[in-house]
Amino acid sequence: MASLCFFEWLVLLALALTLGPAAVETRRSLALELLVEAEERWGAGLPGDLPELEPECRRLLAAFAESSAELTKCLGRRARPVRLCQTCHLQYRHLLAQYDNIARAVGNSSESHNCAKSILTSDRLQIVVTLSEFFNETWETANCANCLKNGSEGLSNSTVVFLDLFNKSLTCFEDNLQGQTTYLSPNNYTEVCRNCNETYRMLNDLYNNLQRMNRQGGESGHSAHLCIDVEDAMNITRKLWSRTFNCSLPCSDTVPVIAVSSFILFLPIVFYLSSFLHSKQKKRILILPKRIQSNASLVNIQEKYS
Ligand SMILES: *[C@@H]1O[C@H](CO)[C@@H](O)[C@H](O)[C@H]1NC(C)=O
Ligand SMILES: *[C@@H]1O[C@H](CO)[C@@H](O)[C@H](O)[C@H]1NC(C)=O
Ligand SMILES: *[C@@H]1O[C@H](CO)[C@@H](O)[C@H](O)[C@H]1NC(C)=O
Ligand SMILES: *[C@@H]1O[C@H](CO)[C@@H](O)[C@H](O)[C@H]1NC(C)=O
Ligand SMILES: *[C@@H]1O[C@H](CO)[C@@H](O)[C@H](O)[C@H]1NC(C)=O
Ligand SMILES: *[C@@H]1O[C@H](CO)[C@@H](O)[C@H](O)[C@H]1NC(C)=O
Ligand SMILES: *[C@@H]1O[C@H](CO)[C@@H](O)[C@H](O)[C@H]1NC(C)=O
Ligand SMILES: *[C@@H]1O[C@H](CO)[C@@H](O)[C@H](O)[C@H]1NC(C)=O
Ligand SMILES: *[C@@H]1O[C@H](CO)[C@@H](O)[C@H](O)[C@H]1NC(C)=O
Repeated sequence: MASLCFFEWLVLLALALTLGPAAVETRRSLALELLVEAEERWGAGLPGDLPELEPECRRLLAAFAESSAELTKCLGRRARPVRLCQTCHLQYRHLLAQYDNIARAVGNSSESHNCAKSILTSDRLQIVVTLSEFFNETWETANCANCLKNGSEGLSNSTVVFLDLFNKSLTCFEDNLQGQTTYLSPNNYTEVCRNCNETYRMLNDLYNNLQRMNRQGGESGHSAHLCIDVEDAMNITRKLWSRTFNCSLPCSDTVPVIAVSSFILFLPIVFYLSSFLHSKQKKRILILPKRIQSNASLVNIQEKYS
């Protein structure tokens, strides 16, 4: 061993002596090369456990972060009174698109940089998946699909009509309350009740129709709720109308109401009539033996007391 080391040392010494500064130069450049190679591997070379994302993936992640911030801002701002679906559907679609951009590369071997693997599945937190799931759940709980068009590019026609009527109702309320709040006496809402009953009734009818249609479509996967914007608007208006203004509800569909209530009213009469007729029929059958019996007892009594 020692002799080999000694031999090696001798060779090196001879080399150093013969080549001199050239050897030092080559050694230095070798070290530099190694360093550069290590840096490159750190940056991009090794697959899998890299501390840095590839630039393309970093761009996708930044885009997702941006759109999730936009959506969060919109949801928070439109929380009360609820205007989530009508205001934030564009932001939601952007977020879905960004998530899709990241997720699309799953199992795509032709893609050189697999962003889905490194962004969506590389750690136990998986924050991008968690965020996306949260937005999906929120959107589903709000039933926003219910007031958007099929392709969800904008509000559905019925929703537009409903929101327009809602706006008209609120405007009518405001107009008829003008100059009332300044008085100390309790507000007189008779004007509101009289002048806004038309719009209110239309709004109420439309809402009931939408609900009915939604329930009929309920078997095909839809839930029983309308979208939260519509529900909340109706909730607010109904509470104002009946609790704050104490207006009576104008009967919406009078014909079926009258039909049903008159049918219920006549039910006892029908019942008594039918039972009366029924018993009359029975009496006719029983009439003979009864009269004989009663006559006999009458005779008995008369005999007793005479
Ligand atoms: C795989 O990636 C290529 C290149 O980006 C793309 O054209 C193709 O649509 C992807 N395939 C799938 C199934 O996502
Ligand atoms: C959220 O919903 C969209 C569309 O329905 C779907 O493509 C996406 O995979 C969902 N996100 C998660 C994390 O499930
Ligand atoms: C929604 O659109 C898809 C195609 O974009 C169509 O297959 C589906 O039948 C439509 N659904 C309704 C309820 O219109
Ligand atoms: C919704 O309204 C638009 C324009 O007002 C009309 O072109 C479209 O046919 C309507 N859609 C439905 C489903 O009524
Ligand atoms: C109703 O809509 C008009 C025009 O879009 C708007 O200026 C007004 O503020 C709305 N009224 C209410 C009560 O939201
Ligand atoms: C409310 O105002 C109407 C007219 O606008 C009036 O006829 C009515 O007597 C008033 N009611 C009360 C309680 O002040
Ligand atoms: C609204 O109220 C007015 C006055 O009370 C009444 O004449 C009218 O018939 C009502 N309209 C409806 C739709 O109930
Ligand atoms: C209506 O409002 C009440 C109280 O303000 C609330 O408890 C209820 O959940 C609301 N209903 C809907 C359908 O939003
Ligand atoms: C609402 O109106 C009815 C009569 O229409 C009255 O008996 C009741 O006291 C009123 N309630 C409130 C809270 O004003």
